Amino acid sequence: MTRPKVQGFFDVPSNTVSYVVSDPETGAAAVIDSVLDYDSAAARTDTASADKLIAHVKQEKLRVQWILETHVHADHISAAPYLQEKIGGVLGIGEKIMVVQETFGKIFNEGTEFQRDGSQFDRLFRDGDRFKLGNIDANVLHTPGHTPACMTYVIGDAAFVGDTLFMPDFGTARADFPGGDAATLYRSIRKVLSLPPQTRLFLCHDYKAPGRDTYAWETTVADERANNVHVKDGISEAEFVAMREARDKTLGAPKLILPSIQINMRGGNMPPADDEGNVFLKVPLNRI
Ligand SMILES: [Fe+2]
Repeated sequence: MTRPKVQGFFDVPSNTVSYVVSDPETGAAAVIDSVLDYDSAAARTDTASADKLIAHVKQEKLRVQWILETHVHADHISAAPYLQEKIGGVLGIGEKIMVVQETFGKIFNEGTEFQRDGSQFDRLFRDGDRFKLGNIDANVLHTPGHTPACMTYVIGDAAFVGDTLFMPDFGTARADFPGGDAATLYRSIRKVLSLPPQTRLFLCHDYKAPGRDTYAWETTVADERANNVHVKDGISEAEFVAMREARDKTLGAPKLILPSIQINMRGGNMPPADDEGNVFLKVPLNRI
C-alpha cells in the first residue's frame, strides 16, 4: 500500500491538528482540517496558522489538489477559502453537510439566501467514493455519530478519522451535538477499526491524557483495537453508548461553537457583509 507523507500542524488554542498529506512521487497534496485563528473576545480572525500550512506547501513544492474537511467543526473556524485562494485545491466534505446546514440554518435563523444544498463546497463525498492524490488511491468512509456529515479519508495507508477516535488513552469524541448519536458513532468506529491493523490513523484533536504531558495525534488501527479506553475490542455497543452518553452530559459547549458552525457550514465563508462591508455573527440565545 502506498505511503503518503503526512505533516501534522497542532493548534494549541483549539487542540486541533491540521494535516498536509502528499504523494512523494508527484508532489500532489491535500490539506485536511485547516484552522483560521480566532480571538473570540475581540471577534478578530488571523491567518498565522493557515500561513504556516502555506509556507510548508511552498517549501516542499507541493501542488495542492484537495482541501478536505472531515466534518463541520464546532471548535475552530476553517481556513479553507483563504487556502484555496492562495494555493488552490478542490474543497470537499461529506454530502450529509446538507443535514447539518438544515439543522443549523434553523438555529441561526438564516434566510433563504443560505443554500442548504452543500453548494458552498466543490465536491460532496459519499460513502465508498474514491479519488486520487497524485498516484495514491484514496477512498472515503462515511463515519457519522459525532455529527451526521463526518467522513474518514483513507489515503494510501493513512486514515484521517476526524472526530471519531482520539488517542487510545483518551478515547472517543462526543456524540451529543444536534444530529450526533453514540450508537451511530460506535458503528462508525468499528468501520474504521476494520481497516488493516497497520493502517496509520491521524486524529483531528488531542487533549493530552492523564499521565501524558505531550500532544499526540498519530496511532494505528491495531493500537486502537488493543488499547482504546472507550472502544477497544471487546467493549460492546451498549457499554459504549452508556459510557458516552453519561460522559457527554458532563461536557460544556465548545468555546467557539457559535462562530465555528456559523462559518464552517458555509464552507468557511463568512456570512454576507452589510452594505458597508461589515460582517456580523449571530448569537442565538438558549439554542445550543
Ligand atoms: Fe468536531
